[in-house]
Amino acid sequence: MKLDEVVAVITGGASGIGEAVSKYLASLGAKIVIGDIVQESIEKAVKDIETAGGSAAGLKTDVTKDAEVAALMDFAISKFGAINVVVPCAGIIRDGVMINTDRETGKVKRVMETDQFRSVVEVNLIGSFITLREAARRMVDNKWTGVLFTISSINKLGQVGQMNYASTKAAVAIWPKILVGEFQMKGIKGIRVMSIAPGYVGTPMVKGMNQDALADILKDVHIGRLIEPEEIAHAISMIIENEAFDGTCLEITAGLTYGSKSIAK
Ligand SMILES: NC(=O)c1ccc[n+]([C@@H]2O[C@H](COP(=O)([O-])OP(=O)(O)OC[C@H]3O[C@@H](n4cnc5c(N)ncnc54)[C@H](O)[C@@H]3O)[C@@H](O)[C@H]2O)c1
Repeated sequence: MKLDEVVAVITGGASGIGEAVSKYLASLGAKIVIGDIVQESIEKAVKDIETAGGSAAGLKTDVTKDAEVAALMDFAISKFGAINVVVPCAGIIRDGVMINTDRETGKVKRVMETDQFRSVVEVNLIGSFITLREAARRMVDNKWTGVLFTISSINKLGQVGQMNYASTKAAVAIWPKILVGEFQMKGIKGIRVMSIAPGYVGTPMVKGMNQDALADILKDVHIGRLIEPEEIAHAISMIIENEAFDGTCLEITAGLTYGSKSIAK
């Protein structure tokens, strides 16, 4: 698929990986529609793209709300006439262990609250589901071809301190298999589904982590640094262009070598 023929809807597109994907794809000729909850950041990202000579539009969207996501998809169609690529980058972390004990007494002093778990599921998992569904129903009805992405994480392997987050990232990593199977069953051709699972990327989400924990993690990264958001954007552009990528999850880890380590102190 040629990038200058693509209309891409990117949620969470006003910061971090989503912003980098928006700008990178725009620089290659794609038309970009950004959905995010932060209006000022949307406006800035759209302006940056337009200043650089690209085409973009944005709409304030909470991905947990069906009607807002549907409106985002209709907005994309009204602006640019189609939807071809969907990258649901809207995501949050609310780290912590399920049972936290007092060092001296060994008794439970804090737990992961239900809302701490639920809020992450709402945005990362249900938000991604609504986003893909609202895009796919329009793509199928209009016979638009393209790629649906999910944004997993290397933490899908079972990251200590992220029972909530890692659960959502494990779940979205298997969606390509399910959706490609369903599309195959229903004779829907031309819409591929791919997940990417990045390692540690230098975005506000990661830079805001516990700094000791981050330094500890970097000791186990083979290339010795955080991945640049633009490197993830490049991988996404490659997947869009190369039809052989379909129905699986691509890990982009920078050579991360550890198993489960504590990131919640
Ligand atoms: N940074 C990493 O190392 C890393 C690694 C693997 C996966 N990821 C995933 O990549 C995605 C983007 O992460 P990032 O590091 O760029 O984060 P980020 O915090 O920089 O950006 C996330 C964006 O999502 C938006 N957002 C949050 N809740 C929303 C909602 N309800 N509706 C719409 N938008 C909402 C935020 O406003 C923000 O613009 C996330 O799904 C994250 O889990 C990140």
